[in-house]
Amino acid sequence: MAMKTNEIENKSVPTIVPVEEDFPILKTLINGKKLVYLDNSATTQKPKQVIAAMTHFYEHCNANVHRGIYTLSRQATEAYEKSRQIIADFIGASFDEIIFTKGTTESLNLLASSLGKKLQPGDEIVLSEMEHHSNIVPWQQIAKEKKCILKYIPLTAEYTLDLEKAKKIINSKTKIVSVTQMSNVLGTINPITELARIAHAVDAVLIVDGAQSVPHLPVNVQELECDFLAFSGHKMGGPTGIGVLYGKRKLLENMEPFLYGGDMIREVSFDNASWNELPWKFEAGTPSIAQAIGLAAAVQYLQNYGMDKIVEHEKKLTAYALQKLSTIPGLKIIGSAHLDNRGAIFSFTLDGIHSHDVSEILDREGIAVRGGHHCAMPLMSRLQLPGTTRASLYLYNTEKDVDALVTGLKKVQKVFA
Ligand SMILES: Cc1ncc(COP(=O)(O)O)c(C=O)c1O
Repeated sequence: MAMKTNEIENKSVPTIVPVEEDFPILKTLINGKKLVYLDNSATTQKPKQVIAAMTHFYEHCNANVHRGIYTLSRQATEAYEKSRQIIADFIGASFDEIIFTKGTTESLNLLASSLGKKLQPGDEIVLSEMEHHSNIVPWQQIAKEKKCILKYIPLTAEYTLDLEKAKKIINSKTKIVSVTQMSNVLGTINPITELARIAHAVDAVLIVDGAQSVPHLPVNVQELECDFLAFSGHKMGGPTGIGVLYGKRKLLENMEPFLYGGDMIREVSFDNASWNELPWKFEAGTPSIAQAIGLAAAVQYLQNYGMDKIVEHEKKLTAYALQKLSTIPGLKIIGSAHLDNRGAIFSFTLDGIHSHDVSEILDREGIAVRGGHHCAMPLMSRLQLPGTTRASLYLYNTEKDVDALVTGLKKVQKVFA
């Protein structure tokens, strides 16, 4: 049976209540205990609808895209490109402004490589102190190669970005400002529109790392006024191996490709090549077809559930978690206490206990949290911490999960008493 394009939609209509039923893995036993999955900043679990959409593709219309003149290839192409449109609509972009990549890391590398070609010695690139390594290292490399200067917007004592300092740091030499919309360590939500205006006032581009925000907040690139937005499918219920780079059409048109090869060309001779139009100019080689279809199914799952409902659910859980965690003696939350500018990501330290030990003992209780530097070593050194334990929640988490975490942490403290 061939897949018609509208089957992508039909496959992903969720049964809104109860959400847990949509995520088969949540029934898994870990060390004899029901899994309490609290590592959603690292990756999220997949709803049945996403798994079904990908299985359907492989069982019924697997072929390469953009090449075959035969029916199956046409159907695969249609499903792949339909996925692009679904994702474009989700963030308020146009079809040709959506480039499929492997994930946020690849999207940011694409930008560093392509925008980097135009940088001159002495140009400045501004990041923030709360960036993930994937929004630091590509810029460090380009800065070294092009003799550019890297600057960082500092943190305030409330774990937010210091906008007054940002206004001074961003100046006429600044060409690129690249910041995360939500910190994967602190949970802080940054004022992107304000930063976009500061950057645009000096003709710099504003890049947003949306790895943690796009899965949890309604994100519209027009409202954000950003120039580029990078995010990963696997952090929003989609599969690994697929991510997105949104870019304003005018900017993308003037950028050089990142990778070279099949599909991204218009014409090739023995000596030269010309480039395909957007968005394919940036998609060399066979793309992640089933993964793109899986990501579109994840987007539809989130849309059907409602991004506003996700925000509401996570805000309630955040208030609950902050209150419950504050009852544990010796526990310090590394992040803002204000609900209006933070997401459901809780980094904390426990007096005298290493974060790896916390994670290991919680694992015995079936609770999955992350311990360590969370790919943000500069932030850790700024906070003078070797690492934190991090619990990060998503739409399928409940107050019960928070209770399990609190009980587990008390057990950890008993082991080390
Ligand atoms: C804020 C942030 N940026 C970038 C990334 C990198 O994402 P990926 O590994 O999917 O490329 C992550 C992953 O944790 C992240 O949290």
